[in-house]
Amino acid sequence: MGEVDPAFVQEQEHRPKLSIIEAKGIPEIDLSPIFNHEVPDQSAVEALVKEIGSACKEWGFFQVTNHGVPLSLRQGLEEASRLFFAQSLEDKKKVARDEINPTGYYDTEHTKNVRDWKEVFDFLVKDPTFVPLNSDEDDDQVIQWSNPSLPYPPQFRAIVDEYLEEMEKLAFKLLELIALSLGLEANRFEEFFKLQTSFIRFNHYPPCPYPHLALGVGRHKDPGVLTILAQDDVGGLEVKRKSDQEWVLVKPTSDAYIINVGDIIQVWSNDAYESVEHRVMVNSQRERFSIPFFFFPAHDTEVKPLEELINDENPSKYRPYNWGKFLINRKSSNFQKKKAENVQI
Ligand code: SIN
Ligand code: FE2
Repeated sequence: MGEVDPAFVQEQEHRPKLSIIEAKGIPEIDLSPIFNHEVPDQSAVEALVKEIGSACKEWGFFQVTNHGVPLSLRQGLEEASRLFFAQSLEDKKKVARDEINPTGYYDTEHTKNVRDWKEVFDFLVKDPTFVPLNSDEDDDQVIQWSNPSLPYPPQFRAIVDEYLEEMEKLAFKLLELIALSLGLEANRFEEFFKLQTSFIRFNHYPPCPYPHLALGVGRHKDPGVLTILAQDDVGGLEVKRKSDQEWVLVKPTSDAYIINVGDIIQVWSNDAYESVEHRVMVNSQRERFSIPFFFFPAHDTEVKPLEELINDENPSKYRPYNWGKFLINRKSSNFQKKKAENVQI
């Protein structure tokens, strides 16, 4: 074991403990009342709405089962992800992200200024945030797919397309349940998704000889609306429990998806539901794969607390912000920072 690169070393207070407290984990919610019945049973749906509401309030995180996403599709995607990462670095870098294309492959990412122990492939079939440098360039990201020398495993695009459809379906269902749990109309959030900026991420965390010093992803909150995460059976995701601020491991449950509330729901709900910090531990023996789907609204969304949820006693806690501008500033500030640090993008 050589010396650890100091770029990966977390400050003492943020190092993982490795002895995980055995405690009540995030809630597990069975979605069969909405997915396994032609005509949903109203009282079962009402109970589900309550369950979702308290999970959002108490944890900001929950796992769902009987979610309607075919297992074979998930397995196909996981296999494609393994094949992609198993290629040589040189091949993977053929689809590296860069200043022009903000999605693609990268192996250098910092969270709160500490390097994450991971490699990533971010993926948008169509990227509405794409700003061509050259005005006569087409913004059609399908180009990303059409070059046969690029290192996509066979059928990758078809599987990703199908999976994205399933993710959208699930995300809209969850959002309906969340709207109902806040006392809103089920379709209250629909207007923000006429166009989406959602994307899918493939994470690969190679075995790490320093699991007591480094993290796969440092502590952070997700900026979007919802995240739907498929994690494999290795485990490593930790969530900060609201009741006592302890880090709690999310035990892998096969074929479940982990859902978390992002910053936008926190703002829309004026803090009724909070976006919760989480991080990823690495493993000295086993590599880990995870696939989050980030459900993001349209570019022109003005994010602010919903009128129905504010009043004199509960005034708005947030100033409105434009989602598209937020995204672009975030991306360019990452690039600026990396350039300044002279690290590889
Ligand atoms: C993340 O939150 O960015 C990754 C989650 C995971 O890999 O479990
Ligand atoms: Fe996250």
